[in-house]
Amino acid sequence: MAGLGLRRLRQDAHVRALTREVRLHPEQFIQPLFVVEGLAGREPVPGLHGVFRETARSLITQVEADLSAGISCFLLFGVPAHKSGQQGFDWRHTVEAIRALCAHFGQRIWLAVDVCLCAHTSHGHCGLLDEHGEHVVNADSVSVLVEQALAFAAAGADCVAPSDMMDGRIGAIRAALDERGFERTVLMSYAAKFHSAFYGPFRLAADSAPTSGVGLRDRASYQVDPARPRDALASARRDAAEGADIVMVKPGLPYLDIIAGLTGTLAQPLAAYQTSGEQAALELLAEAGLAELDRAQLESWTALARAGADIIISYAARRAPALLAR
Ligand code: PBG
Ligand code: ZN
Repeated sequence: MAGLGLRRLRQDAHVRALTREVRLHPEQFIQPLFVVEGLAGREPVPGLHGVFRETARSLITQVEADLSAGISCFLLFGVPAHKSGQQGFDWRHTVEAIRALCAHFGQRIWLAVDVCLCAHTSHGHCGLLDEHGEHVVNADSVSVLVEQALAFAAAGADCVAPSDMMDGRIGAIRAALDERGFERTVLMSYAAKFHSAFYGPFRLAADSAPTSGVGLRDRASYQVDPARPRDALASARRDAAEGADIVMVKPGLPYLDIIAGLTGTLAQPLAAYQTSGEQAALELLAEAGLAELDRAQLESWTALARAGADIIISYAARRAPALLAR
């Protein structure tokens, strides 16, 4: 008769806690926030419980609540009321939200701000189109992204996070920040960002779905193909070499191999972005009575950390302190 072997360390809560190889802590979480121009009141984001398209005012109240809950790192997405074609972009709405957060919370929060054009362009692409609307052009897009990043850094963002996937933007933004005296601004790159179907609720929240462009109905020409792990690794290494301080993999759960593949290969901390579609999937599973949300949430975060993520960006980050305290 075989006695206990591996089961010996599984037998009670104490020994399981004692021997855990992966531990999660509220300090490693980042909570995404949406601030939308011209809203009468805040609106729930479809599919994401407890996540709202905030007004300038409700944003402050929400961050107060998050601080009380034990979350102090944020990733802000600004959504302007007006779209532009190719030029004359106006960052003022997001800039004002950054200023207001900084004035109100100062050093009590750490504020990263998403840098991208898709919420600003009438066509919904993350960069500018060529004159025929057939391609997303690179160099001109990077120039505009540099301006946007500078505006957010000048407004007081602790970190700027380019999610556009243009080539060379990390180096260009780093150089421009340093040149203007923003050498302390952290640069978090959406480096291994895949052309994923798991961004659905986000695009509703940010009003940023690609809508036009000849043969350009999606972001496949700039985001990484899900079947191209070597492209993802190259993209991450390239952005690290160009000066990214934090390197991100996005989405999270479907790309654990990418996170694991990067772990230990870069000096930079690795962030995993549990995207809106991933979060909605967990919540729908729970709503259908097919999973317990709290357990599924913790298990998914544990998987990201186990693969090697140092930082977890999650729509449910504000629930992490309570969940992890249990
Ligand atoms: C846009 C952007 C996206 C996300 C962050 N920035 C979506 C996209 O590429 O369309 C995804 C966030 C999410 O789904 O949670 N540059
Ligand atoms: Zn974008």
